[in-house]
Amino acid sequence: DQQADRPARLLAWYDRHRRKLPWRAVAGERADPYCVWLSEIMLQQTTVRAVGPYFEKFVARWPDVTALGRAALDDVLRMWAGLGYYSRARNLHACAVAVLNDHGGVFPNTEDGLRALPGIGPYTAAAIAAIAFDRRTMPVDGNIERVVTRLYAIEAALPQAKPLIQEMAATLLGPSRAGDSAQALMDLGATICTPKKPACALCPLNDDCAARVRGDQETFPRKAPK
Ligand code: ADE
Repeated sequence: DQQADRPARLLAWYDRHRRKLPWRAVAGERADPYCVWLSEIMLQQTTVRAVGPYFEKFVARWPDVTALGRAALDDVLRMWAGLGYYSRARNLHACAVAVLNDHGGVFPNTEDGLRALPGIGPYTAAAIAAIAFDRRTMPVDGNIERVVTRLYAIEAALPQAKPLIQEMAATLLGPSRAGDSAQALMDLGATICTPKKPACALCPLNDDCAARVRGDQETFPRKAPK
């Protein structure tokens, strides 16, 4: 039925429309955990467009987590200049040092292991676990919240709705390719299921989007009155 094949339709769409981003692996290949981690930290409060050149500069100068862990904090902060939210850069360096000293230079491959590192919260841990290690978990950011609250016409307001959104987001995971499923939802939210004037005609899930059926997709996610 419709509901059951959502994960497959989402992945089929991703295979055709996947954005080429500097930190993404070649289709079908496993992404480098270092690149996934670095990009996710940079993307926390910064747009994909602004992150691109910084990501490239970092990887050129420090090609792996060991190199970054051995770098001087001042050099990392200098290279970060312009991206803002400098605590991210301090945590980035602290995390590289921790991976180097406590994990032999190899990123932990579980959500819990990742969560224990500096600068890695629940969203980032889930993103790295799914994208780099194909763990069956769905990271939920603002884009994915919007897609999921529309798809299921979730009436509960943010932030109270977060656990329900997380649960419903997980219905979009198939038996494999969790990282591609997550990035498919990120791309869908960024390019089609946009805050204003979503391009529903192009959406692979439009047939069974509860909000679209009602015609009020732009009103999701609901926000608690201030
Ligand atoms: N935003 C955060 N992580 C992302 C990713 N992996 N791809 C696209 N947008 C993102």
